Amino acid sequence: MRKMIIAGNWKMYKDLEETKQLVNGLKAQMKIPSQNVVVVICPPFTSLAVAGELVRGSAIKLGAQNMSEHDEGAYTGEISWKMLKSAGCEYVILGHSERRQYFHESNELINLKAKKAIANGLRPIICVGETLAERESGVMERIITTQVRGVLKDFSQADMAVTTIAYEPVWAIGTGKTATPAQAEEVHKTIRSLASQLFNPSIAESLVIQYGGSVKPDNAAELLGQIDIDGALVGGACLKPDSFSAIIAAAKN
Ligand code: PGA
Repeated sequence: MRKMIIAGNWKMYKDLEETKQLVNGLKAQMKIPSQNVVVVICPPFTSLAVAGELVRGSAIKLGAQNMSEHDEGAYTGEISWKMLKSAGCEYVILGHSERRQYFHESNELINLKAKKAIANGLRPIICVGETLAERESGVMERIITTQVRGVLKDFSQADMAVTTIAYEPVWAIGTGKTATPAQAEEVHKTIRSLASQLFNPSIAESLVIQYGGSVKPDNAAELLGQIDIDGALVGGACLKPDSFSAIIAAAKN
């Protein structure tokens, strides 16, 4: 049975004091519905060490929102895998559509980052997703396929075992427009069958594919109830303990 991973992407929100309040609030409220459900929080870099201390020994795992493809060096403003690990991270979100759109990250770069993360014991959550224009002009499947092939280039089966894919339609992120469960399920099926072609059916069967894009307490259960939806990457609704806890509670499988 696949794990269900509920991850909160805090984006550029929460200073240190707010971080403490959110993590402590979540620890007090959250009930993980089964052992199969994994909860990850991804605060901004400046909050990782503090959040890492607070979640130590709890069921909450720590992740980052980005990472350099380099080990170390003169790369002003960048953060390495080693820094993330020393703050307590086990996961790292890579290739979020905001990184692709505003910071011009390519599938090639995301692939390099993902391989660097895995080689150093971090689990990547790799994002893919089409824009509204791409969906409406009928090229969605081609875009998703190109992204998935690109970000997973030269991955081994062992690499796949620690990788999560997040399908996040760009038009649903932060807009309040969610893909319908059927729309999301269709793309998740496409991604899973591509993984089967690129690797093999058992890799595809065990691949965790999250949905992201305006996941809220009132739509989480239906989305997470789809056969090929194995979790959620949550933005806005992860910034409050009650809404993120409600989404976690909806993750029954
Ligand atoms: P949202 O963001 O839940 O606010 O739409 C999701 C994401 O960008 O990961």
